[in-house]
Amino acid sequence: MSADKLNLAVFISGNGSNLQALIDACKDPAFPARIALVVSNQPGAYGLERAKKAEIPAIMIDHKNYTNRSEFENVLQDTLKDYPVNLICLAGFMRILSADFVNRWPNKIINTHPALLPKFGGKGMYGEHVHRAVLEAGELQSGCSIHYVIPEVDQGPVIVQRAVPVIADDSVETLAARVIAQEHIAYPEAVRMIAEKRV
Ligand code: GRF
Repeated sequence: MSADKLNLAVFISGNGSNLQALIDACKDPAFPARIALVVSNQPGAYGLERAKKAEIPAIMIDHKNYTNRSEFENVLQDTLKDYPVNLICLAGFMRILSADFVNRWPNKIINTHPALLPKFGGKGMYGEHVHRAVLEAGELQSGCSIHYVIPEVDQGPVIVQRAVPVIADDSVETLAARVIAQEHIAYPEAVRMIAEKRV
């Protein structure tokens, strides 16, 4: 266990390609962070396989087994206590965390959002909804934002943004693919900046 590195907990719900980008970045011995734990709230999340392959502890906490958000979050919190976590990275984690949980981790939770915040953020703005809204608004560019998590959804301070052009005959899928490729660069970049205290 490297005491000098930032210890990450990565929260996922699905494919986990952003988790993979972090796993790959952490393979470089010079990268100032390591992944201590992966948590999924979805039993079938492919990201759990990615964690297993990388020999990273991975835990599935199915939110559907709890009657309310705070019960689920208490289990999350208890699980985190067993690992040396300094920073929680939400990477396609499809649960909104309550203010109680967020306030327990002040400036210690970050998220990736597939648009250039503050545009196209907030409740209901996730996944393909974001890209559809960008296309419908006739934006000339979109991108991704890695930002701190505060209780107000998608409103925390931005750490890194990367822009991409919106192309005339883009579909939700083509735009999403262009954006997620940038998330894979931006997420490790943001983690590095935090680890090196440049934020
Ligand atoms: C990313 O585009 C993220 O911004 C959004 O969901 C996607 C997650 O993809 N919230 P993955 O699971 O990391 O592949």
